[in-house]
Amino acid sequence: MRREGALAPDGLAGLRVFLRAGCQECHNGVGVGGGSFQRMSRHGDYFAARGDASPADLGRYNITRRDEDRRVFRVFTDVEVRAVVCFLRSLDEGAASSAAACATPSPAR
Ligand code: HEC
Repeated sequence: MRREGALAPDGLAGLRVFLRAGCQECHNGVGVGGGSFQRMSRHGDYFAARGDASPADLGRYNITRRDEDRRVFRVFTDVEVRAVVCFLRSLDEGAASSAAACATPSPAR
């Protein structure tokens, strides 16, 4: 039997991928994120690849007006990532099938 709070096998496999890819460099701490501001597009120009530039792409610069804050964003927490993933799933699978996954309670803090 699985210990309560322990990762299921697929969760453990996901954790290995997460750690191997270095995601914890920014997604870390109590909320697995939310603790720092980071520049997007470190591994390639995400914004150019996506196209359709918008003022929101400037991120924290819109608040501070400092050049070093261009394309800098607060790292999402695990709860925020869950919300985004639920939304993306609903586009793919339809609202009914994503509802169950999105209803999973967040881990207690
Ligand atoms: C250099 C820092 C950094 C690293 C490394 C990083 N992230 Fe992020 N991540 C961010 C930031 C900043 C955001 C918030 C972006 C925003 O506000 O749109 C974010 C948001 C996300 C989101 C929310 C959806 C989205 O695209 O906005 C997911 C999912 C995510 N990261 C997964 C990962 C995974 C998986 C890895 C490892 C492969 C990873 N991140 C590595 C900084 C990072």
